[in-house]
Amino acid sequence: MPRHFLSLSDAGPDGIAAMLADALDRKFARQGWPKGRADADAPLAGHVLACVFEKNSTRTRFSFDGAMRQLGGDVIISDSSQMQLGRGETVADTARILSGYCDAIMLRTDDHAKLEEMAAYASVPVINGLTDASHPCQIMADLLTVVEAGKSLPGLKVAWLGDGNNVLASLVEAATLMHFDVVAACPQGFQPDEEAIVRSSGRARIVASPREAVEGADIVVTDTWISMGQAHAETKLAALAPYQVDAALMAIAKPDAKFLHCLPAHRGEEVSAEVIDGPQSLIWAEAQNRLHAQKSVLRWCFGQI
Ligand code: CP
Ligand code: NVA
Repeated sequence: MPRHFLSLSDAGPDGIAAMLADALDRKFARQGWPKGRADADAPLAGHVLACVFEKNSTRTRFSFDGAMRQLGGDVIISDSSQMQLGRGETVADTARILSGYCDAIMLRTDDHAKLEEMAAYASVPVINGLTDASHPCQIMADLLTVVEAGKSLPGLKVAWLGDGNNVLASLVEAATLMHFDVVAACPQGFQPDEEAIVRSSGRARIVASPREAVEGADIVVTDTWISMGQAHAETKLAALAPYQVDAALMAIAKPDAKFLHCLPAHRGEEVSAEVIDGPQSLIWAEAQNRLHAQKSVLRWCFGQI
Protein backbone atom coordinates (compact mmCIF):
# COMPACT_ATOMS: atom_id res chain seq x y z
CA MET A 1 0.00 0.00 0.00
CA PRO A 2 1.44 3.42 -0.88
CA ARG A 3 1.73 5.93 1.97
CA HIS A 4 -0.82 8.60 1.13
CA PHE A 5 -0.85 12.02 2.84
CA LEU A 6 -4.51 12.97 2.52
CA SER A 7 -4.81 14.26 6.06
CA LEU A 8 -2.56 14.84 9.07
CA SER A 9 -4.04 11.70 10.67
CA ASP A 10 -2.41 9.60 7.95
CA ALA A 11 0.95 10.43 9.56
CA GLY A 12 -0.27 10.59 13.17
CA PRO A 13 1.55 12.34 16.04
CA ASP A 14 4.79 10.37 15.66
CA GLY A 15 4.90 10.90 11.90
CA ILE A 16 4.22 14.62 12.26
CA ALA A 17 6.87 15.02 14.96
CA ALA A 18 9.41 13.10 12.86
CA MET A 19 8.63 15.21 9.77
CA LEU A 20 9.03 18.45 11.74
CA ALA A 21 12.39 17.32 13.12
CA ASP A 22 13.55 16.28 9.64
CA ALA A 23 12.41 19.59 8.14
CA LEU A 24 14.30 21.60 10.77
CA ASP A 25 17.47 19.56 10.24
CA ARG A 26 17.36 19.74 6.45
CA LYS A 27 16.55 23.46 6.42
CA PHE A 28 19.48 24.15 8.76
CA ALA A 29 21.86 21.97 6.73
CA ARG A 30 21.37 24.00 3.53
CA GLN A 31 21.37 27.52 4.99
CA GLY A 32 22.80 30.02 2.52
CA TRP A 33 22.81 27.61 -0.41
CA PRO A 34 21.34 28.60 -3.78
CA LYS A 35 17.73 27.42 -3.79
CA GLY A 36 18.14 25.17 -6.82
CA ARG A 37 21.04 23.15 -5.43
CA ALA A 38 20.10 19.63 -4.36
CA ASP A 39 20.61 18.55 -0.74
CA ALA A 40 23.87 16.68 -0.20
CA ASP A 41 22.13 13.28 0.12
CA ALA A 42 19.61 13.91 -2.73
CA PRO A 43 17.24 11.40 -1.12
CA LEU A 44 14.64 11.41 -3.92
CA ALA A 45 17.07 11.22 -6.84
CA GLY A 46 15.40 9.42 -9.71
CA HIS A 47 11.88 10.14 -8.40
CA VAL A 48 9.31 12.27 -10.20
CA LEU A 49 6.24 13.92 -8.65
CA ALA A 50 3.07 14.72 -10.64
CA CYS A 51 1.38 17.94 -9.48
CA VAL A 52 -2.20 18.39 -10.68
CA PHE A 53 -4.03 21.66 -10.04
CA GLU A 54 -7.78 22.13 -10.36
CA LYS A 55 -7.46 25.51 -8.66
CA ASN A 56 -5.01 28.41 -8.69
CA SER A 57 -1.83 28.27 -6.64
CA THR A 58 1.40 30.17 -6.10
CA ARG A 59 2.93 28.69 -2.94
CA THR A 60 1.88 25.07 -3.37
CA ARG A 61 2.94 25.01 -7.03
CA PHE A 62 6.39 26.56 -6.55
CA SER A 63 7.17 24.93 -3.21
CA PHE A 64 6.44 21.38 -4.37
CA ASP A 65 8.53 22.00 -7.49
CA GLY A 66 11.38 23.46 -5.43
CA ALA A 67 11.06 20.70 -2.83
CA MET A 68 11.47 17.92 -5.38
CA ARG A 69 14.49 19.67 -6.96
CA GLN A 70 16.15 20.07 -3.56
CA LEU A 71 15.51 16.39 -2.82
CA GLY A 72 17.25 15.51 -6.09
CA GLY A 73 14.02 14.54 -7.86
CA ASP A 74 11.89 16.04 -10.58
CA VAL A 75 8.30 17.23 -11.13
CA ILE A 76 5.68 17.32 -13.85
CA ILE A 77 3.09 20.05 -13.18
CA SER A 78 -0.23 20.47 -14.97
CA ASP A 79 -3.51 22.29 -14.53
CA SER A 80 -6.42 19.86 -14.79
CA SER A 81 -8.00 22.17 -17.37
CA GLN A 82 -5.16 21.24 -19.73
CA MET A 83 -5.59 17.52 -19.04
CA GLN A 84 -8.30 15.13 -20.22
CA LEU A 85 -9.39 15.24 -16.56
CA GLY A 86 -10.77 18.66 -17.41
CA ARG A 87 -12.86 17.11 -20.21
CA GLY A 88 -14.38 14.37 -18.09
CA GLU A 89 -11.77 11.59 -18.01
CA THR A 90 -12.28 9.94 -14.65
CA VAL A 91 -10.11 10.58 -11.63
CA ALA A 92 -9.68 6.79 -11.33
CA ASP A 93 -8.29 6.45 -14.86
CA THR A 94 -6.09 9.52 -14.35
CA ALA A 95 -4.74 7.98 -11.13
CA ARG A 96 -3.76 4.77 -12.92
CA ILE A 97 -2.14 6.63 -15.82
CA LEU A 98 -0.15 9.04 -13.64
CA SER A 99 0.98 6.12 -11.44
CA GLY A 100 2.68 4.71 -14.54
CA TYR A 101 4.65 7.88 -15.22
CA CYS A 102 5.34 9.27 -11.77
CA ASP A 103 6.41 8.06 -8.33
CA ALA A 104 3.91 10.23 -6.39
CA ILE A 105 0.95 12.49 -7.15
CA MET A 106 0.02 15.81 -5.53
CA LEU A 107 -3.55 16.96 -6.20
CA ARG A 108 -5.26 20.28 -5.50
CA THR A 109 -8.99 19.88 -6.01
CA ASP A 110 -12.31 21.53 -5.19
CA ASP A 111 -13.79 18.24 -4.03
CA HIS A 112 -12.19 16.12 -1.30
CA ALA A 113 -13.93 13.02 -2.72
CA LYS A 114 -11.78 13.35 -5.86
CA LEU A 115 -8.63 13.23 -3.74
CA GLU A 116 -9.90 10.06 -2.07
CA GLU A 117 -10.71 8.56 -5.46
CA MET A 118 -7.21 9.43 -6.70
CA ALA A 119 -5.72 7.67 -3.68
CA ALA A 120 -7.97 4.63 -4.09
CA TYR A 121 -6.82 4.04 -7.67
CA ALA A 122 -3.20 5.25 -7.59
CA SER A 123 -0.44 2.74 -6.97
CA VAL A 124 1.88 5.54 -5.77
CA PRO A 125 1.55 7.96 -2.81
CA VAL A 126 -1.05 10.72 -3.20
CA ILE A 127 -0.63 14.07 -1.39
CA ASN A 128 -3.38 16.55 -0.51
CA GLY A 129 -2.37 19.92 -1.98
CA LEU A 130 -5.62 21.52 -0.67
CA THR A 131 -9.23 20.44 -1.04
CA ASP A 132 -12.49 22.10 -0.06
CA ALA A 133 -12.23 20.15 3.21
CA SER A 134 -8.60 20.44 4.32
CA HIS A 135 -5.07 21.73 3.71
CA PRO A 136 -2.66 19.52 5.69
CA CYS A 137 0.52 20.66 3.89
CA GLN A 138 -0.23 24.22 4.98
CA ILE A 139 -0.59 23.17 8.59
CA MET A 140 2.68 21.21 8.45
CA ALA A 141 4.37 24.48 7.42
CA ASP A 142 2.52 26.36 10.18
CA LEU A 143 3.62 23.85 12.84
CA LEU A 144 7.19 24.10 11.56
CA THR A 145 7.01 27.90 11.80
CA VAL A 146 5.67 27.77 15.35
CA VAL A 147 8.35 25.30 16.49
CA GLU A 148 11.04 27.35 14.74
CA ALA A 149 9.79 30.41 16.66
CA GLY A 150 10.76 28.56 19.84
CA LYS A 151 7.27 27.49 20.92
CA SER A 152 6.50 23.93 21.93
CA LEU A 153 3.22 22.54 20.57
CA PRO A 154 1.70 20.77 23.59
CA GLY A 155 -0.38 23.20 25.63
CA LEU A 156 -0.16 26.05 23.12
CA LYS A 157 -3.26 28.25 22.70
CA VAL A 158 -4.00 28.99 19.05
CA ALA A 159 -6.75 31.48 18.19
CA TRP A 160 -8.49 31.28 14.81
CA LEU A 161 -10.54 34.25 13.62
CA GLY A 162 -13.01 34.29 10.75
CA ASP A 163 -14.27 31.66 8.34
CA GLY A 164 -14.51 28.03 9.50
CA ASN A 165 -12.77 26.76 6.37
CA ASN A 166 -10.45 24.02 5.04
CA VAL A 167 -7.33 25.47 6.74
CA LEU A 168 -9.10 25.58 10.10
CA ALA A 169 -10.18 21.95 9.62
CA SER A 170 -6.54 20.86 9.33
CA LEU A 171 -5.53 23.09 12.24
CA VAL A 172 -8.16 21.41 14.43
CA GLU A 173 -6.89 18.00 13.32
CA ALA A 174 -3.33 19.05 14.22
CA ALA A 175 -4.46 20.26 17.64
CA THR A 176 -6.12 16.90 18.29
CA LEU A 177 -3.00 14.97 17.27
CA MET A 178 -0.33 17.24 18.78
CA HIS A 179 -2.15 18.26 21.99
CA PHE A 180 -2.57 22.00 21.65
CA ASP A 181 -5.74 24.06 21.91
CA VAL A 182 -7.61 25.87 19.15
CA VAL A 183 -10.22 28.46 20.04
CA ALA A 184 -12.04 29.51 16.89
CA ALA A 185 -14.14 32.66 16.72
CA CYS A 186 -16.42 32.16 13.73
CA PRO A 187 -19.83 33.74 13.13
CA GLN A 188 -23.02 31.70 12.87
CA GLY A 189 -23.29 30.09 9.46
CA PHE A 190 -19.51 30.03 8.93
CA GLN A 191 -18.47 27.68 11.69
CA PRO A 192 -16.44 24.50 11.14
CA ASP A 193 -17.86 21.01 10.95
CA GLU A 194 -19.31 20.13 14.37
CA GLU A 195 -18.05 16.53 14.08
CA ALA A 196 -14.44 17.68 13.79
CA ILE A 197 -14.86 19.71 16.98
CA VAL A 198 -16.31 16.66 18.77
CA ARG A 199 -13.46 14.46 17.45
CA SER A 200 -10.93 16.93 18.91
CA SER A 201 -11.73 15.63 22.43
CA GLY A 202 -11.97 19.14 23.84
CA ARG A 203 -8.86 20.46 22.07
CA ALA A 204 -10.94 22.70 19.78
CA ARG A 205 -13.90 24.90 20.65
CA ILE A 206 -15.92 27.54 18.89
CA VAL A 207 -16.71 30.89 20.48
CA ALA A 208 -18.67 33.84 19.15
CA SER A 209 -16.42 36.56 20.54
CA PRO A 210 -13.09 37.37 18.82
CA ARG A 211 -11.81 38.80 22.13
CA GLU A 212 -12.48 35.51 23.94
CA ALA A 213 -10.61 33.55 21.25
CA VAL A 214 -7.57 35.80 21.30
CA GLU A 215 -7.26 36.33 25.06
CA GLY A 216 -3.97 34.78 26.21
CA ALA A 217 -3.30 33.24 22.78
CA ASP A 218 0.24 32.24 21.77
CA ILE A 219 -0.62 32.21 18.07
CA VAL A 220 -3.32 34.11 16.16
CA VAL A 221 -4.35 32.75 12.76
CA THR A 222 -6.76 33.83 10.07
CA ASP A 223 -7.40 33.19 6.37
CA THR A 224 -9.30 34.71 3.49
CA TRP A 225 -13.02 35.14 4.04
CA ILE A 226 -13.84 33.89 0.55
CA SER A 227 -12.05 30.67 -0.37
CA MET A 228 -11.44 29.53 -3.92
CA GLY A 229 -14.61 28.24 -5.52
CA GLN A 230 -16.89 30.17 -3.13
CA ALA A 231 -19.21 32.92 -4.34
CA HIS A 232 -18.15 36.45 -3.33
CA ALA A 233 -21.12 37.12 -1.05
CA GLU A 234 -21.61 40.54 0.56
CA THR A 235 -23.61 38.86 3.34
CA LYS A 236 -20.61 36.69 4.22
CA LEU A 237 -18.24 39.66 4.23
CA ALA A 238 -20.63 41.56 6.49
CA ALA A 239 -20.93 38.64 8.93
CA LEU A 240 -17.14 38.32 9.11
CA ALA A 241 -16.32 42.03 9.41
CA PRO A 242 -16.14 41.99 13.25
CA TYR A 243 -13.59 39.15 13.06
CA GLN A 244 -10.79 41.13 11.40
CA VAL A 245 -7.44 40.62 13.16
CA ASP A 246 -6.29 44.14 13.97
CA ALA A 247 -3.81 45.67 16.42
CA ALA A 248 -6.45 46.05 19.16
CA LEU A 249 -7.21 42.34 18.99
CA MET A 250 -3.52 41.34 18.88
CA ALA A 251 -3.01 43.39 22.04
CA ILE A 252 -5.28 40.96 23.92
CA ALA A 253 -3.11 37.97 22.97
CA LYS A 254 0.11 37.19 24.88
CA PRO A 255 2.75 39.93 24.45
CA ASP A 256 4.96 37.51 22.49
CA ALA A 257 2.08 36.15 20.38
CA LYS A 258 2.74 35.52 16.70
CA PHE A 259 0.45 36.00 13.71
CA LEU A 260 0.04 33.42 10.91
CA HIS A 261 -1.82 33.51 7.59
CA CYS A 262 -1.50 30.88 4.86
CA LEU A 263 -1.78 33.57 2.13
CA PRO A 264 -2.98 34.94 -0.21
CA ALA A 265 -4.16 37.72 2.12
CA HIS A 266 -6.65 40.55 1.78
CA ARG A 267 -5.36 43.46 3.83
CA GLY A 268 -8.25 45.40 5.30
CA GLU A 269 -10.55 42.35 5.27
CA GLU A 270 -9.50 39.39 7.44
CA VAL A 271 -6.40 41.21 8.74
CA SER A 272 -5.22 44.80 8.97
CA ALA A 273 -2.04 45.78 7.14
CA GLU A 274 -0.60 46.88 10.48
CA VAL A 275 -0.77 43.32 11.83
CA ILE A 276 0.15 41.26 8.77
CA ASP A 277 3.09 43.55 7.96
CA GLY A 278 3.97 44.15 11.61
CA PRO A 279 6.58 42.68 13.97
CA GLN A 280 4.40 39.84 15.28
CA SER A 281 3.72 38.46 11.81
CA LEU A 282 5.56 35.31 10.70
CA ILE A 283 3.94 35.09 7.26
CA TRP A 284 7.14 35.14 5.20
CA ALA A 285 8.79 32.38 7.25
CA GLU A 286 5.49 30.47 7.11
CA ALA A 287 5.33 30.67 3.31
CA GLN A 288 9.01 29.71 2.98
CA ASN A 289 8.40 26.75 5.28
CA ARG A 290 5.91 25.28 2.81
CA LEU A 291 8.97 24.11 0.87
CA HIS A 292 10.82 22.71 3.88
CA ALA A 293 7.78 21.01 5.42
CA GLN A 294 6.79 19.43 2.11
CA LYS A 295 10.26 17.98 1.57
CA SER A 296 9.67 16.02 4.75
CA VAL A 297 6.11 15.10 3.73
CA LEU A 298 7.54 13.72 0.48
CA ARG A 299 10.21 11.75 2.34
CA TRP A 300 7.55 10.40 4.70
CA CYS A 301 5.45 9.27 1.72
CA PHE A 302 8.43 7.35 0.37
CA GLY A 303 9.05 5.66 3.73
CA GLN A 304 12.29 7.56 4.37
CA ILE A 305 10.94 9.00 7.65
N1 CP B 1 -1.26 28.88 1.05
C1 CP B 1 -1.40 28.32 -0.15
O1 CP B 1 -1.75 27.13 -0.29
O2 CP B 1 -1.09 29.14 -1.19
P1 CP B 1 -1.34 28.87 -2.73
O3 CP B 1 -2.84 28.86 -2.94
O4 CP B 1 -0.67 30.00 -3.43
O5 CP B 1 -0.76 27.52 -3.10
N1 NVA C 1 -9.02 28.80 2.37
C1 NVA C 1 -8.26 29.18 1.19
C2 NVA C 1 -6.84 28.74 1.32
C3 NVA C 1 -5.97 29.16 0.17
C4 NVA C 1 -4.56 28.67 0.30
C5 NVA C 1 -8.90 28.58 -0.03
O1 NVA C 1 -9.31 27.43 -0.01
O2 NVA C 1 -9.00 29.30 -1.03
